[in-house]
Amino acid sequence: MRRLFVAGNWKMNKTIAEAEVLVQEMLPRVDAFANVDKAVCPPYTALPAVAACCKNTGLKVGTQNLYWEESGAYTGEIAPKMVAEICDYAIVGHSERREYFAETDETVNKRLKAALAAGLHVIVCVGETLEENEAGQTEAVVTRQLTQGLAGISEAQAADITIAYEPVWAIGTGRAATPEDANDVHKDVIRPLLAKQFGEKRAQAMRIQYGGSIKPDNAAELFSMSDIDGGLVGGASLTADSFVSIIEAASMVAIVMAETES
Ligand code: 13P
Repeated sequence: MRRLFVAGNWKMNKTIAEAEVLVQEMLPRVDAFANVDKAVCPPYTALPAVAACCKNTGLKVGTQNLYWEESGAYTGEIAPKMVAEICDYAIVGHSERREYFAETDETVNKRLKAALAAGLHVIVCVGETLEENEAGQTEAVVTRQLTQGLAGISEAQAADITIAYEPVWAIGTGRAATPEDANDVHKDVIRPLLAKQFGEKRAQAMRIQYGGSIKPDNAAELFSMSDIDGGLVGGASLTADSFVSIIEAASMVAIVMAETES
């Protein structure tokens, strides 16, 4: 059975002081749900403070991005080893980076390789736009993003990768994919691609998160699906109440799944 994994992507929100307040509010409550893997991804400036708060707890810390070079004249960028000093996780290829910051499948692949080499666990984001969805191109887009994004990655490296399927039309819109539609993409498109590249056993062990308007009231239904292994949460990870409720939902689903399996 795959452990559910819920991560909060805070995007460009929270000053250092605000981040500390939020994480201190979350910590005593999320730590109770030991059967779920959990992480928060604050902006760079708040990473050290949040990591200090999370030390020796079950709440891990991730970066929302990183550059692939080790050091040098790259004004404004941050190197893998710099974030690896603070973080366990890295998000790469988020659709907002693709849309606003010219991220391509090729640069996603470079960031992924650099992050893995620095010892980070990486969440690789994929997902189609509304236009692509309406044109029936979901499978083609996700296949291209994954094939190129994961190019050259070995089966052993895949152990440190989580895929996040985030349909762009569902992000920040309040209109989540239906659990069935998301599960179909996870089960019939993403996992078979992982199996083709890494073998069936590794593919079955890898987590595929869903992301896009996850809220406390739809989380349990999404996480109950066979191939939705947790979530990447944006807006609802910005308050302790909603993020904790989503982790609680994952924990309840995990208990039911464990009972069903035994
Ligand atoms: P929302 O949960 O705000 O839709 O954002 C999802 C997301 O982009 C997480 O990376």
